[in-house]
Amino acid sequence: MINLKYYTRVLTKEDISYLKDLEQIEFLTQKSPWAAQEIAGCYEDTYKLIALFCKDKVIGFSVIYNTRVTTDLLTIGVLTQYQGQHLGQMLLLDTLKEALNVKAIECFLEVRVSNVVAQNLYKKFGFKQVGIRKEYYSAQNGHAAEDAYTMQLADIASAVEKLS
Ligand SMILES: CC(C)(COP(=O)(O)OP(=O)(O)OC[C@H]1O[C@@H](n2cnc3c(N)ncnc32)[C@H](O)[C@@H]1OP(=O)(O)O)[C@@H](O)C(=O)NCCC(=O)NCCS
Repeated sequence: MINLKYYTRVLTKEDISYLKDLEQIEFLTQKSPWAAQEIAGCYEDTYKLIALFCKDKVIGFSVIYNTRVTTDLLTIGVLTQYQGQHLGQMLLLDTLKEALNVKAIECFLEVRVSNVVAQNLYKKFGFKQVGIRKEYYSAQNGHAAEDAYTMQLADIASAVEKLS
């Protein structure tokens, strides 16, 4: 999606130079951030790495992992100073469009039980809580272990149509 200032784009192996930016965004936005090596692995074909840009600066990104029918949303984050302007929503919408492009039907994700902001975003798209995973997030970086909700979006196409 292109709007004048903010837009998203799938990153390919030619965009590996953005890795440092992605690592920094991950570090600043996630309680259990991935290391650069893990993010680098997402430039491979079974993953899609979708970057959110403000002009030429990366300000957020998401990663999905695709199997045939199901997509897993593995991470999504927007730099704090850009949050609350529906940019996370734009990034999630464009991420789900990419899932549709590879013929995914449903999407699963895990989210910390304390992360109400992200849960609200997901609910807005129609994700439903379908499970709870005990201590899915291990104690790390001064944060205690925490349970995750598993959420499912059963019909990606309808959500994309509704939010577009
Ligand atoms: C979760 C995240 C991507 C949302 O992006 P964002 O740009 O801040 O959110 P948006 O402005 O697009 O808001 C979209 C919806 O999210 C929910 N939301 C956003 N901010 C919220 C807040 N402060 N309180 C409650 N709900 C909120 C609302 O449902 C909102 O829709 P609405 O404004 O129509 O009510 C972003 O906050 C983030 O990067 N957080 C840190 C990383 C993270 O938690 N990632 C998810 C891991 S599972």
